[in-house]
Amino acid sequence: MLFTLTSESGTRVCKRKGVLSAVWAGRGSFTKCSILGRWFTRRFTALRQKVPFAMRALLFGCALIAVATIAPAVVAQKVQLSVDVSKASVKIDRNIFGQFAEHLGHGVYEGIWVGPDSTIPNTRGIRNDIVAALRALKVPNVRWPGGCFADEYHWRTGIGAQRLVTLNPNWGGVIEPNTFGTHEFMDFLDQIGAEAYISVNVGSGTPREAAEWLEYLTAAQPTTLAKERAANGHQAAYRVSSLGIGNESWGCGGNMTPDYYLSQLKIYTRFVRNFNPSQQDKQQMLKIAVGPGGSETEWAYWTEAVMRAYQNRQWSWDINGLSMHSYTVGHWPPSFASVGFGETEYGQILKFTLEMEDLVSKHSAIMDKYDPQKKVALVVDEWGAWYAPLPGTNPGFLVQQNSLRDAILAALNLNIFAHHGDRVRMANIAQMINVLQAMILTDKEKMVLTPTYYVFKMYVPFQEATFVPVAFDAGTYVHGEISLPRMDALAAKDTAGKLWMAFTNLDPNQSIEVEASLAGIIARSAAGETLTGPKVDSVNTFDAAKTVVPKPISAKVEGRKLDLTLEPKSVTVISVEQ
Ligand code: AHR
Repeated sequence: MLFTLTSESGTRVCKRKGVLSAVWAGRGSFTKCSILGRWFTRRFTALRQKVPFAMRALLFGCALIAVATIAPAVVAQKVQLSVDVSKASVKIDRNIFGQFAEHLGHGVYEGIWVGPDSTIPNTRGIRNDIVAALRALKVPNVRWPGGCFADEYHWRTGIGAQRLVTLNPNWGGVIEPNTFGTHEFMDFLDQIGAEAYISVNVGSGTPREAAEWLEYLTAAQPTTLAKERAANGHQAAYRVSSLGIGNESWGCGGNMTPDYYLSQLKIYTRFVRNFNPSQQDKQQMLKIAVGPGGSETEWAYWTEAVMRAYQNRQWSWDINGLSMHSYTVGHWPPSFASVGFGETEYGQILKFTLEMEDLVSKHSAIMDKYDPQKKVALVVDEWGAWYAPLPGTNPGFLVQQNSLRDAILAALNLNIFAHHGDRVRMANIAQMINVLQAMILTDKEKMVLTPTYYVFKMYVPFQEATFVPVAFDAGTYVHGEISLPRMDALAAKDTAGKLWMAFTNLDPNQSIEVEASLAGIIARSAAGETLTGPKVDSVNTFDAAKTVVPKPISAKVEGRKLDLTLEPKSVTVISVEQ
């Protein structure tokens, strides 16, 4: 069995020939380990000679319980950290907390849309429970209608009284009823308080089709298309804050070369116009080009090509963003289980997800060459965990569970985006409901909020807050061949001047004692919430919805010092009162 010692540098495990010698917790060394081990072996041998087996077993059991009760299995690690609020720098754009809702599986149909005649409580066909849950996240924007679906979507199928029934060949080949179309999407946004990020069809559509869609949406003057919109129930011009020009045009969006895509991009950015009068000077619609899908050379080449063209652009075309897609998948096809996994898979997935840092740095560096003023945003408009489909589900529906591991993964990625806030000004997790790393899962009338949902909720105060640098040595969590930083942190000052800090303890076994020294602020108290669960793969289910939910936490504060204990495998957000 095991003989555990904790040293200054972490936990060590000593094996004693298949016999449990002792469990020891505390600061120590391997010398203590072997001395203690020998002592236990001698006692056990003497006991064996004098006492009958049943009695020995009873004594042994009692001793075990006593040891387990007296000594905690592990000791908290200490991390010293410093924050200087006077160094607040770049704004964390609230759009990095964006969502993505594709016509895919039960993401839209059932997830958002149940229709006005449904017994599930709804407003004009849109689920009330979903709207209430999403309002609490202050969702800044929603990307729609895809994904790969966008490059086969023809907007006219989804307006008016008679909807066309089509197919969804990308995602299970199922019927697409088109009952959720332009007006329903804009109504949904209105209900949750978010902005529209519309992806237009470059792959199988035409510039004219996209231009007409935008005129239909945004024209305030009485054009034929604007009148058609009014006849369909919406007199006022809609706002469209962002426009995606194609989706993965190097892959499902048409397998285009960079040059071919650029020739399309120039035409679309020229002719697909937003006519909304309120978006002409200020709050202009952002035009987002297809960007890279990974870190390999081919993707660097794609980013170079688009950014070089941008640098040499003529007056007649422009872009404001370059999209990047990166899933935490491990290997294609996705094979990691979303539930029922252990510490190894937990560590592997977190290791993969931290590659986002290099990816963002690498593509930002290329963008810096052609756009040193950082006018073009890096828009990570598809990110999140992509696991094997849950057994028994349609593999084309990308159904997966969402565990505590995903909450930690989400926090790590949001921290990376915030750290690169000068370039990453928008991101969209894939996807909002029932698909991939979802905020919410539904089963007919039932709904459950996932651990990822709670991270987005806890991070709401970081929307539009100003990034504050944090210095710390996280130490290392080691499991087998995997080593990860033990902790991650983010700090920001909100618009009211309050300091917010987020901490992620990646170590699934040991708590962390954070000793923070604060500059630029005299703190009086600090409190917030922490999110953890019993196991790395703990999930919320329809029957047990509160397994991974935030609970209150407070920190000890004395002037410029703040002490806080982070539970193993947890995400914590606190605010500091002055
Ligand atoms: O999010 C699922 C799919 O992943 C999207 O449709 C596509 O853009 C990406 O490959």
